[in-house]
Amino acid sequence: MTRHFLDISDLTGEELRAIVDDAHARKRLRLGWPKGKPDVDAPGKDRVLAMIFQKNSTRTRFSFDAAIRQLGGQAIISTANDMQLGRGEPVEDTARVLSRMVDAIMIRANEHDDVLRLAKTSEVPVVNGLTNQSHPCQIIADIMTIEEHRGAIEGKVLAWVSDGNNVCNSLIHAAARFGFTLRIACPAGYKPSTEAMVFASESRAHVTVTQDPEEAVRGADVVLADTWVSMGDLDHDERLEAFQSYQVNAELMKLAKPDALFLHCLPAHRGEEVTEDVIDGPQSVIWDEAENRIHAQKAILAWCFGAPSLAD
Ligand code: CP
Ligand code: NVA
Repeated sequence: MTRHFLDISDLTGEELRAIVDDAHARKRLRLGWPKGKPDVDAPGKDRVLAMIFQKNSTRTRFSFDAAIRQLGGQAIISTANDMQLGRGEPVEDTARVLSRMVDAIMIRANEHDDVLRLAKTSEVPVVNGLTNQSHPCQIIADIMTIEEHRGAIEGKVLAWVSDGNNVCNSLIHAAARFGFTLRIACPAGYKPSTEAMVFASESRAHVTVTQDPEEAVRGADVVLADTWVSMGDLDHDERLEAFQSYQVNAELMKLAKPDALFLHCLPAHRGEEVTEDVIDGPQSVIWDEAENRIHAQKAILAWCFGAPSLAD
């Protein structure tokens, strides 16, 4: 069966654990790496990854490109606008054609449904590189980062102070699969998706939503923030106003554990969702988090290719 990586909720806890462990192993094995050197197992050898972008990207674009090279393969990158997809060619036809030419497809799309349709028709693995609904690759890198700094994620308390957006939805899926507590603080009109909350409740995950950032952050091991205005959000001024009391600043961080970590998927807006002293301060691990995107992508692609984990 074709292994797609569309959402954290689609995979079992065992599969996800294997991916995170493989990501840790691939990072460990490359200490002192030259960036272009293939991994010892080269599970992407002779394979081609197509990448399609409907939205901007720095981390996802470069980490997937470098990742497939380190796995021994090659990438072809295109914006959707440069493809016939941008002129209305059906997603299904795009999937059929690319399946004949490449070994995997990574897509960053406006509409989650388009990624599901692509995967349904594609004969090669499809990876979700962010949609309006979720950002599963980011969360694999985030879990890896937390574990690097604080050990096993299970049982930890994470506080999300931001929009209940795509990244938040994937974090909710992960709370269920990895067994951590997630406290979300967001304004009433910006809650996570109903789908993610139903999944959390059916999985008996420890996920709560409050409008009070202090309640969410108190005693937390990790505090996470994201932009108040995601790509595709048109209500910029309205959002800035709604989120004014949801800034992660030194005062809020003081309520978390004294050694709490700060994470942000980036890009960040200093002075809006987070102050400069926090994001550039000693508790912030954002650069490790950004680096870990490449190790996470490699583990995700290796899993899609059915390669054995390097952690075994
Ligand atoms: N965090 C993240 O996905 O970054 P990009 O939008 O730069 O890919
Ligand atoms: N929530 C953000 C994440 C960017 C990586 C967005 O969708 O724009």
